[in-house]
Amino acid sequence: MANKCEFISLPDDKLERRRNLSFSFNYEEITIPSTLASFAKGRTYFIHTLGCQANYRDEEVMGGILEKAGFKKVASEKDANIIIINTCAVRENAEDKVFGYIGNLKAIKAARKDTIIAICGCMVQQKHIIEKILDIYKHVDLIFGTHNIYELASMLNEVVTKRVRLIDVKSLPSDIKENLPSTRLSSFKAFVNISYGCDKFCTYCIVPYTRGKERSRKMVDILKECQELKDAGYQEVTLLGQNVNAYGKDLNDGSSFAHLLDEVAKIGIPRVRFLTSHPWDFKEEMIDVIAKHKNIMKYIHLPVQSGDDEILKLMGRRYTSAQYKELVDLIKRKIPGVAISTDIIVGFPNETYEQFLKTVEMVKYVRYDSAFTFIYSPRNNTPAAKIKDNVTAKEKSQRFRELVKELEVTVGESSSKMVGNTYPVLVEGASEKNPKMLSGYTETNKLVHFKGDISLVGQIVNVKINESHVYSLMGELVK
Ligand code: 5AD
Ligand code: SF4
Repeated sequence: MANKCEFISLPDDKLERRRNLSFSFNYEEITIPSTLASFAKGRTYFIHTLGCQANYRDEEVMGGILEKAGFKKVASEKDANIIIINTCAVRENAEDKVFGYIGNLKAIKAARKDTIIAICGCMVQQKHIIEKILDIYKHVDLIFGTHNIYELASMLNEVVTKRVRLIDVKSLPSDIKENLPSTRLSSFKAFVNISYGCDKFCTYCIVPYTRGKERSRKMVDILKECQELKDAGYQEVTLLGQNVNAYGKDLNDGSSFAHLLDEVAKIGIPRVRFLTSHPWDFKEEMIDVIAKHKNIMKYIHLPVQSGDDEILKLMGRRYTSAQYKELVDLIKRKIPGVAISTDIIVGFPNETYEQFLKTVEMVKYVRYDSAFTFIYSPRNNTPAAKIKDNVTAKEKSQRFRELVKELEVTVGESSSKMVGNTYPVLVEGASEKNPKMLSGYTETNKLVHFKGDISLVGQIVNVKINESHVYSLMGELVK
């Protein structure tokens, strides 16, 4: 398309750090400029999303806006008139993938010059990334951030009518927008945002900068959305927040996560999940609510990050390994059969091998049912990135492999214990590896493959587990 750049705003990390902000709620529906609606006739879109669940929820909102304008979704970028890359910045390898993907789009743009290529999400909340895109990837037409997705229609209208490259990335969050259109990616499981942003500022993490200050949605709005999902036949909702425990604190109206979870469970959706819980401030009241409701899944994702107290302190995690273990003990005591998963970072700056072994010891203590493991990745402008690191990449990889081996033992043990028993499984679709098989998840989030008819997708069925393959299970349908 066009070459001229129009800078509406660029992100500034000093502003992104600001927390003394107040917010209000906006219920106005978005309007579609008539020129964009005319342009959309017969045209298509494709969104490529990377990263966490919050990004997938954003994709649904962007899809909703584009469809309201009149664009139709297509299954491949090759057939799309508008391609949006919805990015993640949490680790460098996520960013590398995005650059690879943008590079590949060059051929599409060369073949069809009027294709509009847009980049949004956490990665472009960093000024140096925008500079790199503008410098190297001249085929990108639109760059917008995490705080102005709701303006997608007007931004596209600018690109289409003025034929400019538009850059509009805000540093500060807007008010909370309700009533945005959305096209759900699934007809039986849904993500529901309960809060946006994060105020924890763990020293390695870029999220508090890219997603801004913690802002909770009003409980009535969340409950309304959950009720609508129930009425539409949804089998599962996952309540989303970077730190769900903090839900409601900013509302100053007595709202809390325990209360919200209790109310959501009462709506009666068969499966209620939530992500992510910070071990700090995980209230006993929350554990009691989880234990009380049959439809709250007995699965808690509780990122530990490290098992060493000194590293936890340097990470700014606000708990010690002993406090974490105490919390796990309490959860296991009050919620029989609960599954616990975690996130672990190896190779934080200057982590010693002995400190790393404390993490291994934590894994042995908790006996995690599943885990996500990462090698530390320095993120621009975060406090940890300023620490001079004496651990080599080779040592970090070696520790990573050692940790994965240890996790295979506890995860394998938790999967093996399920063999011979029957569990309810929400059927997701045909298995990725073998299209003749179906796959789905147990209440404790274990992946199960089994033979069955495709018509079962979206239903909860009983599956007897026959074999454990550590990270997945093989089973058979039972009546
Ligand atoms: N390097 C490696 N892993 C990270 N995470 C967050 N920031 C970083 C980083 N800089 C991991 C944490 C978090 C998960 C979503 O990503 O484990 O819980
Ligand atoms: Fe990042 Fe910590 Fe916030 Fe999680 S709690 S998003 S790791 S700053």
